[in-house]
Amino acid sequence: MYADAAAHDAAIARIRKLPPLVSVGEIESLKGQLADAAEGHRFVLQGGDCTERFRDCAGLAVVSKLKILLQMSLVLTYGARRPVIRIGRIAGQFAKPRSQYSEEREGVSLPAYRGDNINDLEWSARARIPDPARLERGYFSAAATLNFVRALLEGGFASLRSPEHWKLDFIPDSGEHAGYREIADRIRDAIDYLESLSATTDNFRRIEFFTSHEGLLLPLEEALTRQRTGDDRHYNLGAHFLWVGERTRHIDGAHVEYFRGIANPIGVKVGGTTTPESLLRLLDILDPSHEPGRLMLITRLGAGAIADTLPPLVRALKAAGRKPVWSCDPMHGNTTVVDGTKTRAFEDIASELKSAFQIHRAEGSHLSGVHFELTGENVTECLGGVQNLSPADLRRSYETGCDPRLNYAQSMEIAFLISNILATERRPSGVHQHLW
Ligand code: PEP
Ligand code: CO
Repeated sequence: MYADAAAHDAAIARIRKLPPLVSVGEIESLKGQLADAAEGHRFVLQGGDCTERFRDCAGLAVVSKLKILLQMSLVLTYGARRPVIRIGRIAGQFAKPRSQYSEEREGVSLPAYRGDNINDLEWSARARIPDPARLERGYFSAAATLNFVRALLEGGFASLRSPEHWKLDFIPDSGEHAGYREIADRIRDAIDYLESLSATTDNFRRIEFFTSHEGLLLPLEEALTRQRTGDDRHYNLGAHFLWVGERTRHIDGAHVEYFRGIANPIGVKVGGTTTPESLLRLLDILDPSHEPGRLMLITRLGAGAIADTLPPLVRALKAAGRKPVWSCDPMHGNTTVVDGTKTRAFEDIASELKSAFQIHRAEGSHLSGVHFELTGENVTECLGGVQNLSPADLRRSYETGCDPRLNYAQSMEIAFLISNILATERRPSGVHQHLW
């Protein structure tokens, strides 16, 4: 891929010597928490950009991403009454798998944009040339982003009293969404009460947050993989959690071979063509010892297909004694093109989520996580939601470098929706029926 292979190898060799971004202790703590999630005692919120841009390594952009994830997690905790594990698609999500190697515009064809770690989004032949210097810029951008996230969390950013966390102006006073305001009021009230018992303030200050990205560029991932002192376990210390994508998880492929060798908790994207047999074979390779908390299965099946494709997978895994964290990515199976623009409809995203909860419940399993492409900004990339965005709105603020993301209001709306589902799941069966 690189014209100058020696320059690529030299960049990788330098990254190999740089310090880790995360620690084995943090990774093992996440694994333990995910083991709880697999048992239904915790819930996982994973989200962030489809592809991070180097230009997003900026103060305000990081603040807004952290804020939306924290707010959503608070709403989820309220409904679930269990701790929520927060995992950002952040501080390293700089590489994209592409279905097409080239992109056409008005008769001109250029190599596809493959993430800031490889080339640039700008529409010019020069920008699309893979540049190995970007790999180091990726490392330092991830380091700066993560450093700021840690500083914000340590410095009390997550203090729940802050009124700006609760600006819910986008929710109408009446109609089907009015209940969301009531939930927000109740959460605020609970926080007031807890904070008046000053002993709890510290708990709010010390909020945990984990990083993740797709493990796509193997030389880079290997350069960040280090052996733990004292034994032969290897950890990817570039992120707490990595997932293997739908396009690269071939049973005899290099990506699966790499993932097999790291001790981090890992995600596997599961698309609609996955058969129960092939999934079980893959899990036997990736997790032969059934280690608790090791595996998260992130299904991305599409609103129309999930009713047929998810039940056989859940049943087969149950029969095989597998207990992964089941997560639902309602984004990647619901991408459409409207007037030449890639988008997703809020109602499809909500529909796949609701189906995932229902199917797991019906199969005696449980959905313990959700995975979104989202942003804290007021972009117009996905249709619908409380602002009722239409195809004409897509032009207004379409900022993503790759796939369309839920904006701030759509993300909060989804959080309230999931919170309601989780709350009804806690009640005796039957009670939830009238809500849908
Ligand atoms: C992604 O999560 O951005 C992605 C490319 O997903 P998938 O591998 O499921 O298509
Ligand atoms: Co994507």
